[in-house]
Amino acid sequence: MNERHRMTLHRLKQMHATGEKIAMLTCYDAVFARLLDEAGVDVLLVGDSLGMVIQGNSTTLPVSIDQMVYHTECVARGNRHAWIIGDLPFGSYQQSVELGLASAVRLMQAGAHMVKLEGGGWTVPLVRALAERGIPVCAHLGFTPQSVFALGGYRIQGRAEEAASELRINAQQLAAAGAAMLVLELVPTVLAGELTKELAIPVIGIGAGSRCGGQVLVLHDLLNLTGSRQPRFVRNFLEGGLSVQDAVRRFVTEVKSGQFPNDALHGY
Ligand code: KIV
Repeated sequence: MNERHRMTLHRLKQMHATGEKIAMLTCYDAVFARLLDEAGVDVLLVGDSLGMVIQGNSTTLPVSIDQMVYHTECVARGNRHAWIIGDLPFGSYQQSVELGLASAVRLMQAGAHMVKLEGGGWTVPLVRALAERGIPVCAHLGFTPQSVFALGGYRIQGRAEEAASELRINAQQLAAAGAAMLVLELVPTVLAGELTKELAIPVIGIGAGSRCGGQVLVLHDLLNLTGSRQPRFVRNFLEGGLSVQDAVRRFVTEVKSGQFPNDALHGY
C-alpha cells in the first residue's frame, strides 16, 4: 500500500493541472478531523458555517475570530494528512487590510495552512498582502454567506450575463493577486466549468455543478444532521444505513470519480 503524504499546495495545484478532483469537507473538531483524514478527504475547511451547524445561529455573522481560532486548533490536533483551511469570519477582515492580516496570522498560528475569505474586487488588496507575506489564500465567490442580507437570501449568483461577467472578472483579479484556490458557491454549472478551465488555480464548487476541480459540502449536510430542508445541491451520503466513515468514504470516491454531483439532480 502506498504511504500517504501530507497534502501540500504544490500537490493541490498538480491535481488541478491533471484534472484529479479534490474532495473537501467542512470540519470543526478533532474527532471528525481524524475520521475525515482517515477517509481520504484532501482538504478540511474549518468553515464559519459552524455558526449555523454547531452554534445554532441562523447565519454565519455572529462567529468571532476567537471561535475560529479555537476550532482550527481542534481540527489541527486531529488531522495528520489533509490540507486545513481556516475561514476568516465576518468582522475579522472587512474593516482594513491590517485587521485581515492580523486575523489571518491568528488562524495560521492555530494550525491552518491557508485562510479563506469571501468577496470580490474589494478583497484584492488583502489577498495580495497575504500572498506576498506567504499566507496561502482561498477566495470565495458566488453566493457569499457573510453577505446574505445584501444578496437577498440564498440565491444562485451569476445567472444573468452581466453578473456572470462580473464574477469572471473578480475571479481573474483574485487569482492575479495571488489567491491559490477559489470556492464557488451557488453558481450555474456552465459558468463554474468555464472558470475552472480558465483559471490556473483549483476551483472547488458547492452548488456549482460537476465541472469544478473539486467539491466541498458542509459535513452536517452530508450526514443529514441539520433537521432542516436541504438545498438541491446537497446529498445525504448516510442513506442506505452506512456508517459515518463509509458515508465520508463514499463522498470522497464519488467526488473523485465524478459521480457527485450529478448535474441533473444537484446542478443549476
Ligand atoms: O463556511 C463554510 O462552510 C463555507 C462553505 C460553505 C464553502 O464557506
